[in-house]
Amino acid sequence: MRRKLIAGNWKMNGLLAEGTALAEALVNLQASNSVNCDLLIAPPATLISPLATLLSGSGIALGGQDCHCEPKGAHTGDISAAMLADLGCRFVIVGHSERRNDHAESNTVIRQKARAAQAAGMTPVICVGESLEEREAGQAEACVADQIRGSLPDDGEAVLAYEPVWAIGTGRSATPEDVARMHEAIRKVTGEVRGADYAARCRILYGGSVKPANAGELLQLLDVDGALVGGASLVAEDFWAIAQAC
Ligand code: G3H
Repeated sequence: MRRKLIAGNWKMNGLLAEGTALAEALVNLQASNSVNCDLLIAPPATLISPLATLLSGSGIALGGQDCHCEPKGAHTGDISAAMLADLGCRFVIVGHSERRNDHAESNTVIRQKARAAQAAGMTPVICVGESLEEREAGQAEACVADQIRGSLPDDGEAVLAYEPVWAIGTGRSATPEDVARMHEAIRKVTGEVRGADYAARCRILYGGSVKPANAGELLQLLDVDGALVGGASLVAEDFWAIAQAC
C-alpha cells in the first residue's frame, strides 16, 4: 500500500538561525513522538547544507524546491539536480504553481526537470493544479489532466501533488469532496499515461492551506497519499500535528 508522505515546502522563508531552529524542533518532536508517514522538508537552497547535517539519521528526508533541467553549465542562479543530490536531497519539487507563474515554466520544462531529478537519483514531486478562473469555467479536471500528460515522465518514480492555485496560502482549502473527486481523476489520468500498476502505487499529495484543523479529513480520503504543506510547515508543532493526522 501507499505510505503517506507529509512534505513541508518552506518556500522563500528562513534565515540560517530560524531555519536550523525549526529543523531542530522537528528532530526533537520526532525523537519523542512517532508518526505513521514519511516526512520531507524542502527548505530554501541556502539551508540545504546545514539541514543535511541536522537531519542526518533522523529519518526526515530533505528536498529541493526546484532544479534546472540541464546537468551543468552557464545558467546563472540555477541549481542542478545533481547539486541537490550531492547534498543529500532525495526529492525535488518541480512545477509548483509559483514557479509556473513567476518563471513561466511550461509542462515541457517541468517534465525535463523531473527527468533531471530522476537522472540524479531523486524523486520529483510534480505539482499540478488549476487556477480559480479554470475552476469557475468548469475546466479544473481538464486543466490538471493536461498538466499531468505534459509533465509526468514516461518512466521512473514520481510523486504528484495536486495544489489548486486558489487554495495556496489563502486559508481556503478545497473541500474534501473536491479533493476526493480530483485525486480520483488524477489517478485515472496517471493510469492512462503510465499504466494501472504505476497509477496504483503513485503517491498523490494534496496541497493548499493544509493545517492541523483540516488535515484529518483530507488525509483520510481514499486517493490522498499525503500533503504538501506551505505556511503550516513553518511552525514545528503545526507540521507535526499534520503528520500525526496520518
Ligand atoms: O507547496 C505548498 C503549497 O503551495 C501550499 O501552501 O499550505 O501555504 O497553502 P500553503
